[in-house]
Amino acid sequence: MEIDVFTLFPEAFSWFTSQHHIGGALARGHRIDYVNYRDHTPLKAGQVDDTPFGGGAGMVLRVDVVEAALRARYGQDPVALREERAVIALTPAGRMLDDGLVDELVQRPALTLLSGRYEGFDQRVLDHFASMEVSIGRYVLAGGELPAMVVCDALMRKLPGALGHEDSAVEESFSKALGGAPEYPHYTRPAEYRGWPVPDVLLSGNHARIRQWRREQSRVRHSGAPTDGSLP
Ligand code: 6GU
Repeated sequence: MEIDVFTLFPEAFSWFTSQHHIGGALARGHRIDYVNYRDHTPLKAGQVDDTPFGGGAGMVLRVDVVEAALRARYGQDPVALREERAVIALTPAGRMLDDGLVDELVQRPALTLLSGRYEGFDQRVLDHFASMEVSIGRYVLAGGELPAMVVCDALMRKLPGALGHEDSAVEESFSKALGGAPEYPHYTRPAEYRGWPVPDVLLSGNHARIRQWRREQSRVRHSGAPTDGSLP
């Protein structure tokens, strides 16, 4: 899979790229490249943003700057590009990222992620250059860099060979294998801690019973209680 991330802050991704599972995906031939809008701006002094028409707070990422960066990377009109390539703008109001959308995106051989900063993109970027808008939740972040990392992380760990154990991505939380339910609970040593025991079934060595118990637990979590509670 090849992912291009357009951003004003490519250096923000250095920690992300140094993660073991991301490095592993890159070593297996997948790619994440970064394009800095500022490197391609047609404006003077590296300008990329401007004040909003109609007034108001903050700055808006300019449509001509985003077009110049896309043209520099792909050598074609971004209006045509978005028909043949998944060009995803990261916006707080976009389609909510979930396991199903990750499955859809991971089928694509190539993705473009557009990160914005400031108050966001000029609307014409979204209307004419983006194939889709994606959000990572109903809250507002200062920019699209963290969302881009969230999307890349969720995608990379679904690629074949991404994990030490090939099936740990199949049966994990919210996956189709668990009927969209959260994952079952995990335990490790010590088998008892402060009087809190590990469920006997997990120590039984009976793998059919363990599988059944895990499916039940996953269903129980799905139906509410501890994990969707409120803070004290
Ligand atoms: Cl994709 N961008 C920003 N700026 N804020 C967000 C978001 C994206 N998703 C949730 N909040």
